Amino acid sequence: MTPATSLFSPVEADLRTLADNLIQLVGNDHPILYAAAEHLFGAGGKRVRPAIVLLVSRATMLQQDITLRHRRLAEITEMIHTASLVHDDVVDESEMRRGVPTVHSLFGNRIAIQAGDFLFAQASWYLANLDNLEVVKLLSEVIMDLATGEIQQGLNRFDVGTSIETYLKKTYCKTATLFANSSKAAGLLSDVEAETAQHLYEYGRHFGLAFQIVDDILDFTSSADTLGKPAGSDLKDGHLTAPVLFALEEKPYLEVLIKRKFGQEDDLEQALALIQDSLGIQRSRELAAHHAKEAVQHLSILLPSESKQAMIDMTDYVLSRLY
Ligand code: IPE
Ligand code: IPE
Ligand code: MG
Ligand code: MG
Repeated sequence: MTPATSLFSPVEADLRTLADNLIQLVGNDHPILYAAAEHLFGAGGKRVRPAIVLLVSRATMLQQDITLRHRRLAEITEMIHTASLVHDDVVDESEMRRGVPTVHSLFGNRIAIQAGDFLFAQASWYLANLDNLEVVKLLSEVIMDLATGEIQQGLNRFDVGTSIETYLKKTYCKTATLFANSSKAAGLLSDVEAETAQHLYEYGRHFGLAFQIVDDILDFTSSADTLGKPAGSDLKDGHLTAPVLFALEEKPYLEVLIKRKFGQEDDLEQALALIQDSLGIQRSRELAAHHAKEAVQHLSILLPSESKQAMIDMTDYVLSRLY
């Protein structure tokens, strides 16, 4: 479930250390929470976020090795992400994640909520221990944004009046904020100038938007087997993502189907056919490509390095990823 390793090669060894540390960081004071966390961390995931944190760290520390704080930040970033997935799977009632059954389907909703809370709390504690107030503020904002994004997504369900701007704002909150703020935080731990820190933030923001738009496309074009999580459920659940919003501009009948929440036989199949027959997916790809390109432009501030090149290559990976 990890992308072509060559892409991560400058930080491959760092990511192995991270995998070992993540399970240990959760601690085993409480066997059930430990089991729940171990279950998910053990299943892996693509580790895209910690890879970016580590690449930013290396690209901004060319004369010296990265510090334990940079490494800890990468771990915190993956913990926050994983906590949000545990909660997201409860909200979405998803049965599969990272190719294995979700925490709530194995341990029940109560344990899943507690395990998610516990991971957020653990992450906050390790964050505070970085002893860098600015970094604490950035990552605390992420945790607020994630909750806001999830609430916003719930409120917008089946709302055919949702604009692309609203969709992108929500996408920032649920996904891009973590990429943006953790990239910036990694730069701050390297003592980069404020201007560089801002470019790193923008790199992460555009990268994160592209990443989520592609995830939303994959929900229409890929299978559960490849994704390691259910496919085709966003539309059914009323999550109107980019492909749907673009298709709505061309296919007025789609609006009727969504408004009645696919209440009649074959409504969902018809809606999917209308989307496939529209430019929705193509326009979404173009939107993702636009953000990937923007992300690269913000890297011109960095000196050339293997890690910088990997950050550029990651934007191609985002557009071509299949899971
Ligand atoms: C899933 O993130 C949630 C989204 C923002 C699309 P990933 O696709 O990075 O999930 P893992 O960590 O690889 O499982
Ligand atoms: C929610 O996004 C994941 C978070 C960023 C909290 P999705 O609902 O699109 O993620 P998947 O598709 O379940 O991985
Ligand atoms: Mg989900
Ligand atoms: Mg999704």
